[in-house]
Amino acid sequence: ILIRLPAFGLVALALGACSGVQSALDPAGREARDVADLFWVMLIGAGVVWTIVLGVAVYATRVRTDAHEEIVGKRLILWGGVVFPVVVLAALLVYGLRLMPELRQPGEGLRVDVAGEQFWWRVRYKPLNGPEVVSANEIRMPVGERVEFALTSPHVIHAFWIPTLGGKVDMIPGRENRLVLEAEKPGTYRGVCAEFCGASHALMAFDVVVMEKPAFDAWLAAQAAPQPAPTGDLARGRDLFLQNGCGACHAVAGTEAKGEVGPDLTRFGARKTLGAGTLPNTADNVARFIAETDTVKPRVTMPAYPALPRDDLTAIAAYLGSLK
Ligand code: CUA
Repeated sequence: ILIRLPAFGLVALALGACSGVQSALDPAGREARDVADLFWVMLIGAGVVWTIVLGVAVYATRVRTDAHEEIVGKRLILWGGVVFPVVVLAALLVYGLRLMPELRQPGEGLRVDVAGEQFWWRVRYKPLNGPEVVSANEIRMPVGERVEFALTSPHVIHAFWIPTLGGKVDMIPGRENRLVLEAEKPGTYRGVCAEFCGASHALMAFDVVVMEKPAFDAWLAAQAAPQPAPTGDLARGRDLFLQNGCGACHAVAGTEAKGEVGPDLTRFGARKTLGAGTLPNTADNVARFIAETDTVKPRVTMPAYPALPRDDLTAIAAYLGSLK
């Protein structure tokens, strides 16, 4: 009992964290459900084996040995020590391997290229019909469709993981890894980088918005449509954005900003977070991010602009927030 109590305490603690937008045990997709089922089967299987082994060990300390029991003991070793583990482990192995071919089936239509950058996500939608759409730090996908992700990285190894939708896959420089995910429940989930990649590894997350198929199609089509030109204060914000050279690294479709070093900002205002999940996307946070980039997000490539007047920061933040 003394041995088991802390173990049960730990399990109870661990299970307390088993729900929410970032839990592999609260699946919202087919692949994640397979992973969660596998976890529970393995856990219960291991629990049964552990109980039997402990039971036999306790039994062994309490019986006296005589000739008859030595023969029983030999049989026990053969069946309990060889046959039983071989059968149980083989069954668990076959059950686990059964998932592999399913996870490798190709997607059905939409392909999304995702690159792990320092420390953000470059996203490119490649629908079967319709133009490509570039975005960053947020992924939208239709419910009930197998979406194929092509995962790459230009510098260091990152790992792409949406725990509620499926297993994680590494993003390795010089290589393209494939991952197919099928979401089963609409909602907003959280993806993370699951491979230590530098100072802001922990600040490298993204939202995953799973939408009904018609809503997703409408959203994707709208992304390619041109945006109305800003007027008034927003136009001033755009001019400041361009004058300060932001367009050298960032792109905003329909303007002179065509940089590809940093995240595409064409629909920045529609994203829930800023800096790849670092802060909620509010005007105050955007102004702060521009002025104190390195404090908010250590070792990020973007330089800080502490000398920009407060008014200019506010105007740029308002302009970026209007890009929806
Ligand atoms: Cu990217 Cu850790």
